[in-house]
Amino acid sequence: MTEKDTARLKELEQIVIGCFAQTLMTDAAEISPDADFFDDLGGDSLDSLDVATQLEEKLGLSLPEEEFAKCRKAAEAAALLLKLEQGGVPEQAAEPEKKEKVEPITRVCDMEEYKVFLGRVASFEETGNPYFLCNDSPLRDTSLHEGREILNFSSYNYAGMSGRPETIRAAQEAAAHYGCSASASRLLGGEKPIHKQLEAAIAAWKHTEDAVVLVGGHSTNVTFVGNFCGAKDLILYDVLAHNSVHEGTRLSDAESRPFPHNNYEALESILRQCRDRYEKVLIVVEGVYSMDGDIAPIPEYVRIKKKYGCFLMVDEAHSSCVLGATGGGVDEYFGLDGHDIDIKMGTLSKGLGTCGGYLAGDHDLVEYLRYNLPGFVFSVGISPPLAAATMEAIRLLQEDPSIMASLHRNIRVFREEAKKRHLNTCLAGETAVLPILVGGDEEAYLLSTKLLEKGVFAPSAVYPAVPRGKARLRFCVISEHTPEQIVFALDTLVETAKELGIRLPE
Ligand SMILES: Cc1ncc(COP(=O)(O)O)c(C=O)c1O
Repeated sequence: MTEKDTARLKELEQIVIGCFAQTLMTDAAEISPDADFFDDLGGDSLDSLDVATQLEEKLGLSLPEEEFAKCRKAAEAAALLLKLEQGGVPEQAAEPEKKEKVEPITRVCDMEEYKVFLGRVASFEETGNPYFLCNDSPLRDTSLHEGREILNFSSYNYAGMSGRPETIRAAQEAAAHYGCSASASRLLGGEKPIHKQLEAAIAAWKHTEDAVVLVGGHSTNVTFVGNFCGAKDLILYDVLAHNSVHEGTRLSDAESRPFPHNNYEALESILRQCRDRYEKVLIVVEGVYSMDGDIAPIPEYVRIKKKYGCFLMVDEAHSSCVLGATGGGVDEYFGLDGHDIDIKMGTLSKGLGTCGGYLAGDHDLVEYLRYNLPGFVFSVGISPPLAAATMEAIRLLQEDPSIMASLHRNIRVFREEAKKRHLNTCLAGETAVLPILVGGDEEAYLLSTKLLEKGVFAPSAVYPAVPRGKARLRFCVISEHTPEQIVFALDTLVETAKELGIRLPE
């Protein structure tokens, strides 16, 4: 290797290390060229895709996926980059040798993944199991846990609709009238008047021409993202998009790639380079991201989708019933036109207080989905009591602006009170997800457990849901909370951290 090559290799190493650091949110100075991205630095395959996207953008080249996947260290990635810069075509990976014979697995306990799972469960013995906390009541400002009332900050019941007398009554009446189940796919006999009424109500609330409702939020994303695009198409999605979006991209025949979180410039740069190679391009982002509570730059995505001729899908799970005067979501918040976003996806399980998912958009798209979307066509219609309760929730939101006003007040109070106590709320903005940064996973588990003992529940979010060292307690405020409850919760948090000797990062 010439001296020039050696110098360039070193430069490339530093570029790769910079990308590692940005993706993993760590200090580049602490990353050695021989650190393993996965084992030493805690990256995962999605992080690795993010690094690839950054490198392509920075260096203006296209990385061969298979070759890049083999590079676990900055030094290895730099060697590949140098080869590419010098016009070398990376050798095609040899076909993995087919094993003659493998040991059949016939019991779950012999599965490697099951053994890993057992290891995780064993770790709960030290910290206590943070999962499956059982409540014997709706999750409103308070809930009933092990026979006592606790202050609850764990629910997505943002507008207090689950457990509200009006929605319960609507569900009861619909159950009495139609039964508890639609009992068939709507296409083939399960259709009830309330289904169409609900879809019309969602369309009006979301400022679209039409909407279709499915039985689950997760499955709505999987089936739509998994089926809307085909082999000639491309799906571009924010790397922090929900698991259901990632699952959908894996199901789809389309090419797909993530872009760095909220980085619309990176998205635009990808489109600039390759828009003309695909028929449809679907951009998938969320309105509000549930781990940090940050609002996406939707107007930029609208501009980009118009400029490059793409379809824009916004998952409004955490922006509907939170943003806007009637909880209408991102277009109400940003003052967008009803047609600016092609597909507004939302869940019924969060602010609307029931269960299901919807896709709202132009009539031609929605009508096409009604006859073609596998998750709709081959699945039962939403149950009538849930449809009725959801309709009532939308009516209440539209008719009573005090619901969103209370939620917005609580969000403001939480942020102000957290600031007074020098707590770090990560990227939280004007949304109901308000994380408090703790640091280590163990500390976050412990703090959450001790807080619960004192009657305040805020679950911990730990790696891999958030980057290593960035574990947090996720407080979700809802319209039903009072400012006094919020102040009490934060005081108890600070006091408990002090008792445990945990220094909360500022
Ligand atoms: C952004 C986002 N999309 C989709 C879903 C799935 O919704 P559901 O829980 O209603 O199935 C969730 C659930 O947490 C979510 O946060």
